[in-house]
Amino acid sequence: MVKVQRIAVIGTGYVGLVSGACLAEMGHQVVCVDRDERRIARLLQADIPIYEPGLRDLVASNLHGHRLTFTSQIGDAIRLSDIIVIAVGTPTLENGDVDMTQVNSVVASIAAYAISSKTVVMKSTVPVGTGRWLEEQLGLLLPSDIKIPVVSNPEFLREGSAIHDTFHPDRVVIGAEYAQAGAEIAELHAPLGAEILLTDRESAELIKYASNAFLAAKISFINEMAHVCEKVGANVGLVAKGMGLDRRIGPHFLNAGIGYGGSCFPKDTKAQLKIAQNVDYDFKILRAVIEVNHRQRERFVSKIERTLGSLDGKHLAVMGLAFKPNTDDLRDAPALEIIASLQNLGASVSGYDPAVSAHAVQMLLGVNLFTDPYSALRDADAMVIATEWDSLRELNWALVRSLLKQPIIIDGRNMFEPEEMGRLGFTYVSIGRKTCARDMAATSSYMTKKLFQG
Ligand code: UDX
Repeated sequence: MVKVQRIAVIGTGYVGLVSGACLAEMGHQVVCVDRDERRIARLLQADIPIYEPGLRDLVASNLHGHRLTFTSQIGDAIRLSDIIVIAVGTPTLENGDVDMTQVNSVVASIAAYAISSKTVVMKSTVPVGTGRWLEEQLGLLLPSDIKIPVVSNPEFLREGSAIHDTFHPDRVVIGAEYAQAGAEIAELHAPLGAEILLTDRESAELIKYASNAFLAAKISFINEMAHVCEKVGANVGLVAKGMGLDRRIGPHFLNAGIGYGGSCFPKDTKAQLKIAQNVDYDFKILRAVIEVNHRQRERFVSKIERTLGSLDGKHLAVMGLAFKPNTDDLRDAPALEIIASLQNLGASVSGYDPAVSAHAVQMLLGVNLFTDPYSALRDADAMVIATEWDSLRELNWALVRSLLKQPIIIDGRNMFEPEEMGRLGFTYVSIGRKTCARDMAATSSYMTKKLFQG
């Protein structure tokens, strides 16, 4: 039997909203807090401001079941809860440091409104030492009979599969200085049946950065390998497959492409670099990971230029704009930087994305935006793939060929088999694999047949 906890989740961004809805689904009494009153009014109607499959239904059913509510009154939420989950934004400042303004404001509210002991759970990604500092601050600001232990409990949610990730985590990391607080938060996660790793707070804070930095390193590594593959005539997909079959390496995050984007990897790799710098350590590998990721976008633009010649006056259809499929998130999406470079080189751009729509207009200046792929492809000099949306797998290729000015596909996500695209009549350029010129696949299989027939 789950012990029902009264939980306040501060911040209704991606992490707060998903965590709050999932905790309510697990049977707890949850109030999600945000100072944005309009957002709260929308959330009370189960009108979800972010694109996350399944989230609307989860919020609606828990609102309906009276386990979940939303408020802009942080004082009431703090007073009435046993556990406070901090899930506010921690963006990066110009100098690479983490902007702690929103965390500081929550601490001030806890100090102002807490009238009894409770546990704070830090879910926002924060620099190492933040939990200790926060606990000290609260100790100084509150009467001595009110104890507020701070527990680090980083999230590892992927956009697009955040609800699945919450209910089926690979591990739950809990960093606590006080065993009782750690046990309380461990109990909260026990029904998930995942391995629970209890650590000191600094280690837990670092595990989040280390995990994201390592995954980013895998991506940059395979992107570097892709260049070597192109030079020596190998296929990066097969190289990754061969590497991934070694259980020590694993098959995940070895897809070569135009690099990582989103709200986490770019921010967290930079923050981890800064954390090391702040203790006088030059984290060389991480510096290279970040640089390679940036260069990957530039190289892709050069690849488009090499394929089409001067881009001045050319028209390109960029398919997929979000930083990955199943999200409408454009934060640090490779497509944005690539489109800006194409425009700087004189090309005009039309864009297709099934999820990114009107809200993105400002980030996509000068781009003719479509939610129908065929309209975006009309009269383009080439189809450029920036996000591997499933909808692109099912295109009518004869129609695509007839809409494009020339049958050229430049694929930044290695969605298709080069030979197959050649057979379909396209010149197909991808990352770390041989370019397949139109009809070349047919020619080469004819040659192979001839060879075998002697
Ligand atoms: C990530 C982490 O996976 C998650 O644990 C963390 O808490 C938040 O950051 P997310 O940003 O949602 O999640 O996306 P993810 O699926 O990890 O992909 C990140 C980026 O890497 C995307 O731009 C994706 O296209 C790119 N990527 C991923 C690759 O280029 N190649 C790969 O093999 C995998």
